[in-house]
Amino acid sequence: MLLTLNGISKGFGTKSDSTYRSVLEDLSLEVREGERIAILGPSGSGKTTLLNLIGGLDYPDKGEVEFRGQDITRLSNVEMDRYRNQEIGFVFQFHHLLPQCTLLENVLVPTLINTEKSERAEKQERARSLMKRVGIWEYRSKLPGKLSGGECQRAAVVRAMINSPSILLADEPTGALDKENVEVMADLLMELNKEDGLTLLVVTHSIDLARRMGKTLEFKNGKLEQI
Ligand SMILES: Nc1ncnc2c1ncn2[C@@H]1O[C@H](COP(=O)(O)OP(=O)(O)O)[C@@H](O)[C@H]1O
Ligand SMILES: [Mg+2]
Repeated sequence: MLLTLNGISKGFGTKSDSTYRSVLEDLSLEVREGERIAILGPSGSGKTTLLNLIGGLDYPDKGEVEFRGQDITRLSNVEMDRYRNQEIGFVFQFHHLLPQCTLLENVLVPTLINTEKSERAEKQERARSLMKRVGIWEYRSKLPGKLSGGECQRAAVVRAMINSPSILLADEPTGALDKENVEVMADLLMELNKEDGLTLLVVTHSIDLARRMGKTLEFKNGKLEQI
């Protein structure tokens, strides 16, 4: 199993007072290498919270998050940084590209840490080949502000893929795109899954995108149910 979540509980606020809100309750999930999973649920149901726990951006109150059999909640800070940087790719609803950097500089940002000098040329080449693949290589010297939302979102996917992660966590990746670009993004995610064996966990409200995943899970009372 690539990823196993065992009895995860997570809430926010102080347990003893009325501000406390339980979000995930005894949630378990197994993800095999190369799987494509869509995650559905209304706003506030815990989708982003779940991705944050898997991506090592937050910690559960209870339970384990095992990546290749190792509980990531027990990693040291250095190991956790490495996990986030090397094993996980993140794509969000908005591309969050740095406005003052070119597209090429943006996709290379994750290589600025944990990359040996000897690997730099390889990363440059990977950036070139991925950018060509998604049709944005010709815009490499442009600033994000000069490009369309769809082009910037494709750059965000390349940035997420630059360190060859095991899992891509996508949080409403097509939420800000028009219908045509939703299709382009869905094709791109499918291709990365089929050709590179990338494992996909995609939070989405798009039925079109969800249909192309192999499995669809929906939030019900802090847990995930297959639909
Ligand atoms: N850092 C936080 N502090 C306090 N409450 C939070 C925090 N993160 C999320 N929440 C709350 O947890 C619930 C689930 O949020 P979230 O996972 O973002 O939902 P979704 O992504 O499904 O819309 C919401 O009620 C939200 O307000
Ligand atoms: Mg969310």
